Amino acid sequence: MTDDFERMWTDLTPVGRSAASGGYFRQPYRGAERELRSWFLEQATARGLRVESDPAGNVVAWWAPPGVSGPGVLTGSHLDSVLDGGAYDGPLGVVSALAAVDVLRSRGFVPARPIGVSVFVEEEGSRFGLACLGSRLAAGVVPWRDALALTDRDGISFEDALSSAGLGAETYEPWDLAATVDCFVELHVEQGRDLVDRGAAVGVASEIWPHGRYRFDFTGAANHAGSTRMEDRHDPMLTYAMTALAANKQARLAGQRATFGRVEVAPNGTNAIPSRVTAWLDARCSTDAGLASLVEAIGGQATDRAGRDGTSLRVTAESVSASVAFDASMAARLAADHEGGDWPVIPTQAGHDAGILSAAGVPTAMLFVRNPTGVSHSPEEHASMPDCLVGVSALADTLERLAR
Ligand code: GLV
Ligand code: MN
Ligand code: MN
Repeated sequence: MTDDFERMWTDLTPVGRSAASGGYFRQPYRGAERELRSWFLEQATARGLRVESDPAGNVVAWWAPPGVSGPGVLTGSHLDSVLDGGAYDGPLGVVSALAAVDVLRSRGFVPARPIGVSVFVEEEGSRFGLACLGSRLAAGVVPWRDALALTDRDGISFEDALSSAGLGAETYEPWDLAATVDCFVELHVEQGRDLVDRGAAVGVASEIWPHGRYRFDFTGAANHAGSTRMEDRHDPMLTYAMTALAANKQARLAGQRATFGRVEVAPNGTNAIPSRVTAWLDARCSTDAGLASLVEAIGGQATDRAGRDGTSLRVTAESVSASVAFDASMAARLAADHEGGDWPVIPTQAGHDAGILSAAGVPTAMLFVRNPTGVSHSPEEHASMPDCLVGVSALADTLERLAR
């Protein structure tokens, strides 16, 4: 007996939810996310799917009827969230994938190639700083040694986090994508208002904007907040503050995006000039060249200001994702021939595991489900139950086309 979409969704709703904000804290390899993973494994087992997992904790649950083998149609998403994130970013794609398998079975459909439901770990990069860490490992674009050395904000290494979760290994074999994955489709809540404006419940992705995360370390001189004359200070907070304003202005001028959403201050005392401010820039542009020049312009203004403040600055790129153009003919094909008209094909400024697989040469598509608030990475993120069900049937139709 398997649960339908609504039942599965209701079961997941309380997991990792903050009573204070209503947002989700589903950090990789920690309680709530591990609970979701166990739930996923139970659901896969209840459906008789064959589960494969790797040392990083990525999982695929395969539906391969007798005699059906070879590269499969992969679908799925992720179960981790940003800090205080929404319910839908990630889990919607996983739950919809399980529900779509049920829909196909209830239609009596027998796939001509395996259908796999995947869950990639640490998609958000909210714990170890590298976006789509699980899919990057699977695609072989991040060396295992480098990944093991990443640390979270408590200083816990990826290696130790894996081992506490009963995962990890000396070595990691990237997936043989050519042999196992014919194509990938990730269903995801839309993270803007494009589908709302178009009056469409589902859409297809055309591209992902290039984006990156850059750590700005501003160093100054700690001193007394009262006895240090204003003209004698080397205050890294000032350099940071001006940099945040400059980033906003640069991005506005270029029609791009720049955000400082995370800051650490040392020693973080009220009555002391800080010795150090570390801030993370998230920058996104419509082109790779635009992203490089945006980051360079922000870094240049920050360095000039550091010169005037008597502080110093070091910029480190921690996670960079190049632009992704999804397979245009696949997108057009999946978007066409639906009752009620073609699904819109729209770009996204958000990163996804689908982007990593696409860059690795896997024919890849994304389906988006309308988000009436247009808000994401926040408790306000939403999709109505009727739209979620439209998404499930859109995904089932898509898998049927691809696996026939
Ligand atoms: C992931 O959702 C990202 O775009 O940061
Ligand atoms: Mn996501
Ligand atoms: Mn996200």
